[in-house]
Amino acid sequence: MFRLPSFVAIVAFASSTVFAQAPVYGQCGGQNWQGATTCVAGSVCTYSNAYYSQCLPGTASSSTATTASSTISSSSSGTTSSPASSQTAAAGNPYTGYSIFLSPFYAAEVATAAAAISDSTLAAKAASVAKIPTFTWFDQVAKVPTLGTYLANASALGKSTGTKQLVQIVVYDLPDRDCAALASNGEFTIADGGEAKYYDYIDQLVTQIKAYPDVRVVAVIEPDSLANLVTNLNVTKCANAQTTYLACVNYAIEQLSTVGVYQYLDAGHAGWLGWSANLGPAAQLFGQVYKNAGSSSFVRGLATNVANYNALVASSPDPITSGDSNYDEQLYITNLSPQLISQGFNAQFIVDQGRSGVQNIRNAWGDWCNVKGAGFGTRPTLTTGSSLIDAIVWVKPGGECDGTSNTSSPRYDSHCGLSDATPNAPEAGTWFQAYFETLVSAANPSL
Ligand SMILES: *[C@@H]1O[C@H](CO)[C@@H](O)[C@H](O)[C@H]1NC(C)=O
Ligand SMILES: *[C@@H]1O[C@H](CO)[C@@H](O)[C@H](O)[C@H]1NC(C)=O
Ligand SMILES: *[C@@H]1O[C@H](CO)[C@@H](O)[C@H](O)[C@H]1NC(C)=O
Repeated sequence: MFRLPSFVAIVAFASSTVFAQAPVYGQCGGQNWQGATTCVAGSVCTYSNAYYSQCLPGTASSSTATTASSTISSSSSGTTSSPASSQTAAAGNPYTGYSIFLSPFYAAEVATAAAAISDSTLAAKAASVAKIPTFTWFDQVAKVPTLGTYLANASALGKSTGTKQLVQIVVYDLPDRDCAALASNGEFTIADGGEAKYYDYIDQLVTQIKAYPDVRVVAVIEPDSLANLVTNLNVTKCANAQTTYLACVNYAIEQLSTVGVYQYLDAGHAGWLGWSANLGPAAQLFGQVYKNAGSSSFVRGLATNVANYNALVASSPDPITSGDSNYDEQLYITNLSPQLISQGFNAQFIVDQGRSGVQNIRNAWGDWCNVKGAGFGTRPTLTTGSSLIDAIVWVKPGGECDGTSNTSSPRYDSHCGLSDATPNAPEAGTWFQAYFETLVSAANPSL
């Protein structure tokens, strides 16, 4: 689903013959696609959506995945915990004592993007993003086999360096996914047996993870799903999905717990569940989901601000937050926490700051699509300023598009046509080079 137009162009110009095979991670199909439809050895053309197919590593014979790791510094003394293969989670922050394995997929996207930038200063800054850990989104079942490759590489790296590796994933494939949005529906529908297909998707993740007990896996569970059940049950698609979402999330938690995956359930952000009227209902739902899954010790807590733009701590409230006393993520977390505890869920948090570098750029708090002027934010770190927050993380891989601005596209969402959304945006999930470049140049702290 990730388009690499510049890379494809470079290959086409560099070669006098029309290339017969697309490179690993290159596009290999989709509506109006004129290029190669087969992939180089070691990768398989994988259908993503009607607009995009991509060469994903598919055989073990000639992997080009490069590995590296990035240690995020810990403010604590760094007690290392044992590998998470048992039924009971180690106490404490799951990140402590581990190095975050860098997604080879995102690193490849970034390397390609940087190579397409002519300004050498900007290109160097862009290239440095490849060393910053992000989460890898498993937003379709066809991508699950690549997790095995990453885990194998992380395991090998851990053994060769003596530093234990942690792989960050997003579990994101619910049937009737993203029930309150117009554009981001997934591959499964409830009407078409999506619940059983989802169980199979989870089983496949579990099989991969089980094979590498020395690698720790941290997962964000199903962005937006439970938050939609808190505030959007008046949307028919959400009301119809409620039982299925709860059953599927429960299955995900229980099964991922059996293989020691540390989980953070997605909890929207300050401008969604952070409104004081929403805190109680949110705490009630998250507490219920946690208890229904046997109060698994591997459910470490909640993830907030995934793919959003809010500050962790705003120096002053953005005017668009007016009326919400929880106008930044730390306030939201601090005020949600006691309500979760009273529901029996002593949750810790991780917070996405990947695109939060620049504040006061939105016309309305609900604007989420390729917001103009955004910059990369605080780097992933365990120094969070709050005992409730395990880590600042980058969940959204910056540069991957939020949604198309093409009003004729069947996946067009009106948020992507607002005046504070970046124009000329490609389909959701595909690479948005111009947007990536502004994230780089507006990064705060700078790159
Ligand atoms: C990465 O994984 C692939 C597939 O398992 C393997 O062929 C390759 O050697 C690994 N690379 C490293 C650096 O471990
Ligand atoms: C659902 O309720 C919210 C809050 O009252 C409202 O803003 C929204 O427009 C409603 N949506 C639908 C589809 O009725
Ligand atoms: C916009 O979407 C329509 C419908 O899919 C397509 O025919 C058209 O080529 C797209 N326009 C651009 C500029 O991509």
